[in-house]
Amino acid sequence: MTESSDLVLRHVEDGIARVTINRPDKLNALNREVIRRLADTFEDLARDESVRGAILTGAGDKAFVAGADIREMADLSPEQARAFAREGQALGRLFDEFGRPIVAAVNGFALGGGCELAMACHLRVASPKARFGQPEVQLGLIPGFGGTQRLPRLVGEARALEMVLTGQMIDAETALAWGLVNRIARERTAVEEAEDLLRAILDKGPVAVRLAVEAVRTGLSMPLDDALEYEAALFGVIFSTEDMREGTTAFLEKRPPRFTGR
Ligand code: COA
Repeated sequence: MTESSDLVLRHVEDGIARVTINRPDKLNALNREVIRRLADTFEDLARDESVRGAILTGAGDKAFVAGADIREMADLSPEQARAFAREGQALGRLFDEFGRPIVAAVNGFALGGGCELAMACHLRVASPKARFGQPEVQLGLIPGFGGTQRLPRLVGEARALEMVLTGQMIDAETALAWGLVNRIARERTAVEEAEDLLRAILDKGPVAVRLAVEAVRTGLSMPLDDALEYEAALFGVIFSTEDMREGTTAFLEKRPPRFTGR
């Protein structure tokens, strides 16, 4: 048995936090303890200014996360179930507020809460054997960690409903074609490919990256006119940053920018 303190592993190196859900004997299923540990981990990392981005993956060679823990869920009352859904959803909110990019390295099954966790990340890299699904209806339930909302935003209503109503899994190629993942790691591991993707972001202006995520994520839940207004407001904010001065000056001086994140 994995000790609860080892349920979520973290390793920070070179500005990148690698977070691993470590319950491979249960295919990294999300019980309450894992959810709490994940929340604690990302709250800690958010306070660490040396962290410029994160990769989230699952331990073992089989699963990213095979869902919320069915054994633990089976006994929940309706009130407890609602609270459990909120705890899972709060993780997604934490990711939204993390202020730095989080890439999911989906190394196997990403089912139910696992698919939802991957979708809450900003970007997703899949291994060729990754499988995605929202199989909750097979258990007589519905997705509760944001799946009914994030999946249609990513793949469109028809495909989301197909996944949510049939409970069938899709493979990595289909996930790529549907826009559920950004890349398939064909030559290397999903974590290595995720790191490459992250590095392509980390040399950009940190404030610009944070505000770009905020504009996209927040704007998606607004009517278009309000979202455009919001974008214009953030565009104004970025002109008060040193990074913006540095980025434009560096271009004009034909040299690489040296961003400070201010
Ligand atoms: N909750 C709790 N335990 C889970 C789990 C979950 N979501 N998914 C897998 N496990 C456990 C299994 O119970 C098993 O534990 P055991 O060895 O103590 O019996 C262990 O993880 C390995 O899983 P197993 O089913 O034996 O592996 P498999 O390769 O035969 O099948 C899956 C893999 C992913 C197809 C299968 O585990 C599965 O369907 N899991 C549930 C997926 C799901 O419905 N998720 C949504 C939950 S809302």
